[in-house]
Formats: sequence, structure tokens, C-alpha cells
Amino acid sequence: MAKISIPTRTLNDGYQMPWLGLGTWPLQGRQLTDSILAAIELGYRLIDTASRYGNEDAVGAAIRESGLPREDFFVTTKLAGRDQGKPYVREGFSASLERLGLDYVDLYLIHWPLPLLGRYVESYVEMVALQQEGLIRSVGVSNFLDDHIAAIVAATGVQPAVDQIQVSPTHAQVDVVEAVSRGGTVVQAWRPLERNGGILEHPTVTGIADRLGVAPSQVVLRWLIERDITTTPHSSNPDRQRLNADIFEFSLEPADVAAITALDVGAPVKQDPKTWEEF
Ligand SMILES: NC(=O)c1ccc[n+]([C@@H]2O[C@H](COP(=O)([O-])OP(=O)(O)OC[C@H]3O[C@@H](n4cnc5c(N)ncnc54)[C@H](OP(=O)(O)O)[C@@H]3O)[C@@H](O)[C@H]2O)c1
Repeated sequence: MAKISIPTRTLNDGYQMPWLGLGTWPLQGRQLTDSILAAIELGYRLIDTASRYGNEDAVGAAIRESGLPREDFFVTTKLAGRDQGKPYVREGFSASLERLGLDYVDLYLIHWPLPLLGRYVESYVEMVALQQEGLIRSVGVSNFLDDHIAAIVAATGVQPAVDQIQVSPTHAQVDVVEAVSRGGTVVQAWRPLERNGGILEHPTVTGIADRLGVAPSQVVLRWLIERDITTTPHSSNPDRQRLNADIFEFSLEPADVAAITALDVGAPVKQDPKTWEEF
């Protein structure tokens, strides 16, 4: 089967990150390892996991079983809320590294800012120290708003390479994306396909897909790329993995991008970073 070539983009620290990777939540164990191996076969190299997903071991197994060199991969994992705070970050990170069976991660994110807990700044300071020790290539954040980013940059002088946030047609997040990317942080969209909750049947999306001769899911994912947003859709099905990765040989007209952005429901995301608590 012909491999799909997924282009990379340069992060603010000089590292290259694929524009598109494989999400892994909520799969675990052998089922996840097999699904990642299928994705690797298709050309995926970025794998997105998290301490909270309970599946870092299955991600590490897939990387080893692929037989490809470690440097071919871009592995992202995330600091859980329970591991935030100066005394805990190092231990949380080491446990992730051990479960992955790796000696560095490409990108380490603070999973949620948890502003009510108030430990994200000291956590980021520790992550920058781990980066200086060569254990983390790129430091980043997830679900951070611009004031959270301003606080960590003020404390460390290190602009996060990536902010992984919820972006999809019904939550286009135009203002948030503009604000968090202002300092050179790359936005990465989570739940881009809305877990197939109906957006792929929306007539605006299917109309554009029919006109271009592509799948509705490809229109949604390409809409992110046109907006300069990277992403990590999840699929356990090799046919859908292929569709999702095969979005780099067509483009959308500005009017198509605007029409999909107009599907925004204008309501805040359910998991509001200002108040969301998970540990
Ligand atoms: N940072 C955070 O706080 C955060 C939060 C949530 C998620 N994430 C990450 O982002 C990743 C993606 O988000 P997500 O998994 O929640 O949602 P998603 O990628 O929007 O949707 C995944 C769902 O859509 C289906 N699907 C995938 N491709 C499809 C296609 N081409 N056509 C039809 N259905 C398709 C999948 O089913 P099949 O498997 O059957 O194809 C799966 O049920 C996660 O896996 C995780 O790694 C991060």
C-alpha cells in the first residue's frame, strides 16, 4: 500500500512536527498497539498520548514493534493534573517516560491549566528544566488561554511550542486561536471530527466534499490546515486513518473555509479551561 507523506512544520524551537498525527484516546492495550502499527504503515509518525489515557505503554510497544528508528517518530505526552506542582512534575514525567520505554519525548504538554489549582506556572518552570536536560525536545501546553500563556512566558521566557486546544467546525475558536498563536505557538486541534457526532453529515460539509470529490472528514480536517492549525484525529480503522491523513493534495477555497467557520455555534466549549478540573 502506498504511504501517505504527511508534511511537517517548524516549531518555534526549531524542531519539526508533522501537521497531522494520530490521537489515541480512549484505546488501550493490544488494540491500540495494533491500530498505531496500522497507522505507522500508512505514514503516520506523530502519536498523541497522555498520562491520563492509561495507554502510554501501548504507544511505546507500537514504536518498538514498528522496527523504525526512534528518531522517525514524534511522540507527544501530557502532564496530568495530579502531577502538577514543583515537587511532582519530575516524577510524573519520569513515569511517562518509563511507560513509553523512551529516553526522551518530542513534545510534553501540560494537559490542562487548572487555574483554580494554581500550579501551572511552577509546573512549566520544571518542564523547561527537563527540556534543558535533554529529556523533552519541545515544551508545550494544552487547553491554555492567552492569559495562561502570558503567565508562563513571564516566568520562564520560553514561549510554548504548541497549544493543543479543542477546535472543530461547531467550536471554530477564531478568537482563541488568534490569541494563543500570537507569540508563535502552533495550535493543534483536539476532537477535530467532533467524535463523528453529526458534523460529517452537515450539508455545508457534504456539499463541499461532493464538489471536491473527497470525504466530509477530509473537508473538516483540511479546514484546520487552511487555518494554519495542526491536528491529531483519532481512528482505529485503517481506512479512516488513511482518509484522515490524505488531506495534503487538495485545498479549500477561502469561501469554503468561511462557510465551515460559520458553523460555529457561538457557545463556549463544555470543558472551559477557566474552570475545568481533572486530575
Ligand atoms: N488535550 C486534550 O485535552 C484532549 C482532549 C480530547 C482529545 N485529545 C486528543 O485528541 C485526539 C482526537 O480527539 P477525539 O479522539 O476525542 O475525537 P475525534 O478525532 O474528533 O473523533 C474520533 C472519532 O471519530 C471517528 N472517526 C475518525 N475518523 C473518521 C472518519 N474519517 N469518518 C468517520 N468517523 C471517523 C472515530 O471512530 P473510528 O475509530 O471507528 O474510526 C472516533 O470515534 C484524541 O484521541 C486525543 O489523543 C486531547
